[in-house]
Amino acid sequence: CGIVGYVGPKQAQDVVIEGLRRLEYRGYDSAGIALVNDGAIASDKRAGKLANLEKAIDESPLPAATTGIGHTRWATHGAPNDRNAHPHLGATGRVALVHNGIVENFARLRAELEAAGHELVSDTDTEVVAHLLEADVVAGADLTTAMQQVCQRLEGAFTLVATDAADPGRVVAARRNSPLVVGIGEGENFVGSDVAAFIEHTREAMEVDQDQVVTITPEGVSVAGFDGTPTEGTRYHVDWDLSAAEKDGYDWFMRKEIFEQPRAVADALLGRHTASGQLQLDEVRLSDQELRDIDKIIIVGCGTAAYAALVAKYAIEHWCRIPCEVELSHEFRYRDPILTRNTLVVAMSQSGETADTLMALRHARTQGSKVLAICNTNGSTIPRESDAVIYTHAGPEIGVASTKGFLTQLVACYLLGLYLAQVRGTKFGDEITSVVHEIAAMPAHLERVLAGADDIYALARDFVDARTVLFLGRHAGYPVALEGALKLKELAYLHAEGFAAGELKHGPIALIEEGLPVFCVVPPRGRDQLHDKMVSAIQEIRARGAHTIVLAEEDDDEVAPYADRLIRLPKVPTLLQPVVATVPLQLFACELATLLGHDVDQPRNLAKSVTVE
Ligand code: G6P
Repeated sequence: CGIVGYVGPKQAQDVVIEGLRRLEYRGYDSAGIALVNDGAIASDKRAGKLANLEKAIDESPLPAATTGIGHTRWATHGAPNDRNAHPHLGATGRVALVHNGIVENFARLRAELEAAGHELVSDTDTEVVAHLLEADVVAGADLTTAMQQVCQRLEGAFTLVATDAADPGRVVAARRNSPLVVGIGEGENFVGSDVAAFIEHTREAMEVDQDQVVTITPEGVSVAGFDGTPTEGTRYHVDWDLSAAEKDGYDWFMRKEIFEQPRAVADALLGRHTASGQLQLDEVRLSDQELRDIDKIIIVGCGTAAYAALVAKYAIEHWCRIPCEVELSHEFRYRDPILTRNTLVVAMSQSGETADTLMALRHARTQGSKVLAICNTNGSTIPRESDAVIYTHAGPEIGVASTKGFLTQLVACYLLGLYLAQVRGTKFGDEITSVVHEIAAMPAHLERVLAGADDIYALARDFVDARTVLFLGRHAGYPVALEGALKLKELAYLHAEGFAAGELKHGPIALIEEGLPVFCVVPPRGRDQLHDKMVSAIQEIRARGAHTIVLAEEDDDEVAPYADRLIRLPKVPTLLQPVVATVPLQLFACELATLLGHDVDQPRNLAKSVTVE
């Protein structure tokens, strides 16, 4: 979501709406504004893009005001409609609040408020916080103190921005794990999700640390911890232009999204397992009995989503011992697949709007199968038409080629597989906890992979004239090879192909010629022979002149002699390796396409979501 707050001499409506326009890429399923005017809150909010809100305000203007907050939403709790749009108001309409993130303990807080007689009108976690804040200010606290008190009661990730009608000229914001920056002006101050919110007014900004509350007035900015201890934010000067600001200083949304992956993966995990490694997937609204009765899983998807599905097959069959098929959505229904009440069809889609996948899920439902969506877009068609949904919580993905969408799909698949194993009590059960902990370590592993980005960029420079690039993998590394090749096709318009390394000798090895770049994803060394077989394949292609670019575990010395280039990966189990191994391939494609002068975010002929069959 995108968040803006303003206090100063200007018309707050203009500043807030302009800020929201700059932040709209963060979410666009509803938008809203609240202004403080003459001791009252004036607010409007609308489902759909910001343009809907602007039209509504044009038709029935809000009063003049110089304090205001605004929000552009990317829904998490509650469908994207007018009622759930932000801002949310407290019980008497005195406090207005906008929120980005998820308050995990909202159900408990809501029950508490309802028991005390509060009437809540939306399905959001946010409204609960608005009521709590207002109760505190009505009881005599100022808004800053109320925010500190309430934040201490919240679990999860959030940025909050609030105003109090009885205290005009003050906007209070708080942050835990979600983004917030302060813009420092002359006689005016701003808060926003990122500097794009205010960059046309000021380039002086201040970072806000975790668990801090910021108060802005026209005269100044003050910061304190949730416990009220005053502290200082870190000031900095923004030297980006406007379009770079929306991309946080990156040249492409895609590159920004690649670098957001540690956060995205952490968000995909948030609240879904206990500290001791028990899975909590309440959103899988199928009874334990229904889950035990499943005798076949079919995962459908297109493009990158279909490759995430392939990884899921390896994991789910190994962990759950349920036969699992993967099929391209558009092939699925036309071949008259065998579907029963005990078949679980998983519809994998970042956008939730891919028509081929939607048609596949409709076909499955007419056959009586249960459908579970794995999706990144709250309230989109595919989850709406499914029996259950696991949201991937990657945040809006703007670059057409999926990156954080893919990694969070992998996480969702792992969670689903482990959850099925937990409910069904398979032999694998004892290992669930250790796998959960391995997944929880992924954000830190990803940070290390991303720290090596410059080496990958250098590699892209060296291969800027390549006409063909091949990718080899085995086991869970095979879908990684397919995804690496797809990224190059999508972005660099290069002929690129991914193969299962074992298939090489059955045909593709004829393609190998002097200097041909071949990426090789080497499985971790383990109990099976996968690793050694892959090393043999690498030797075979190298003997025929291939230039081998090898992705291998950091202490894998056996493969090193056969690698013309070596990309080191953190040590993780084979089934989880796609999470770390895909990232260098994303970076390579992004950089190569940049060097070739292509539009990385909007490659030719493609669309982010293909809503036609
Ligand atoms: C389009 C995009 C691909 C994406 C595929 C599936 O073809 O260009 O990047 O992987 O759709 O999208 P979905 O939103 O269903 O995951």
